[in-house]
Amino acid sequence: MKKKLVNQVKQYFESAFATAPQHVFLSPGRINVIGEHVDYNDGFVLPAAINKYICFGISASGSSKCTLIAKDLDETYTFDLNDELKPTDVMWVNYILGVIHQLKDRSKNLKGVNIAFSSTIPMGSGLSSSAALECGIAYAFNHMFGLGLSKEDIALIGQKSEHTFVGVNCGIMDQFASVFGKKRSVIKLDCNTLEYEYHKADFKEYSLLLLNSNVKHTHLTSGYNVRRQEVEKGLAILKEAYPGVKTFRDCNEEQVKAQREKLGETIYNRCLFVVQEIQRVLDAVDALEASDFAKLGALMFATHDGLSKEYEVSCEEIDFLVDAVRNNEDVLGSRMMGGGFGGCSINLVRKGTEDALIAKVSREYKDKFGISLEPYKIKIAKGTTLYKD
Ligand code: GLA
Repeated sequence: MKKKLVNQVKQYFESAFATAPQHVFLSPGRINVIGEHVDYNDGFVLPAAINKYICFGISASGSSKCTLIAKDLDETYTFDLNDELKPTDVMWVNYILGVIHQLKDRSKNLKGVNIAFSSTIPMGSGLSSSAALECGIAYAFNHMFGLGLSKEDIALIGQKSEHTFVGVNCGIMDQFASVFGKKRSVIKLDCNTLEYEYHKADFKEYSLLLLNSNVKHTHLTSGYNVRRQEVEKGLAILKEAYPGVKTFRDCNEEQVKAQREKLGETIYNRCLFVVQEIQRVLDAVDALEASDFAKLGALMFATHDGLSKEYEVSCEEIDFLVDAVRNNEDVLGSRMMGGGFGGCSINLVRKGTEDALIAKVSREYKDKFGISLEPYKIKIAKGTTLYKD
């Protein structure tokens, strides 16, 4: 699958620019086992890069002119590196310009490029195709122009592009996972310090299965930014009540509960979710280390319920997908994954039962919503990289 994508991009590059690309880069999408909406709330997360990629064919253009071709959208955008870069009306272009804008500030060595790219990461499905795009570009420029960026720099540049050129006030999880991904490993990331450790992603007789609701998360930008404002207000109230509390991590459930009235119902619910979710990730890492998959699965269901009821970032279709497997003894856990308002559910499923489960849930989902479900049996993969034949 990877090889096929690479070959397509090479061919496409050649037909567009009449020469083979000097470099090919792969930048992966990500899953997240648990720890949702806590990367910007002082929490821990447990993501991993997956074997779905954006592939970039890139060459220096020989001038300051840059040509970007999004093969899957059949769209081309050109600009001059010496122009002042500003957000445009075209969303995919903004992810890239937001990165190059920062790189220009850091280095005088950038040169114009020709880029053609194509992706196997479905867009708007909670698998972070945007982070893959940002990090792939930053990684490629770093490699081609010797910018001396660390992996952490690349992830942070990707995140900032999203803040400044895209308008999503996202956390660091997606970019970090895309860059730091490691085969057969999940990353336990401390989102405050960016310290991280790899844990073996060995689910023994279980596997991770994604079910794409095919509901595109169009409310994500507004919903996401509003959640951030709500938790900021909540944290300010908690800090005032408890001088020892600097971040959500210092705060326990009882303290949140004691401030219910002051927080007001909505913000109370948001804060309660955050404090519980931070703890759930720590418990999940212990469960994974102990191969206690029943425990891990139960934590995933609890996360979903919190995201759906307290944090209110799920949607009817994803709730349906989670409920459809809730009492199935071959499914230990299920929850919405990523920013929410659509996208995929992630499921911990007994190996060998996946196909029957997919057939059953697809049928039920189609009957209820008239939408075709898209299942992905994913593998955990390496982060953004230069591709070598
Ligand atoms: C989106 C954001 C991430 C993270 C998740 C929710 O994917 O980009 O930073 O907040 O939502 O966990």
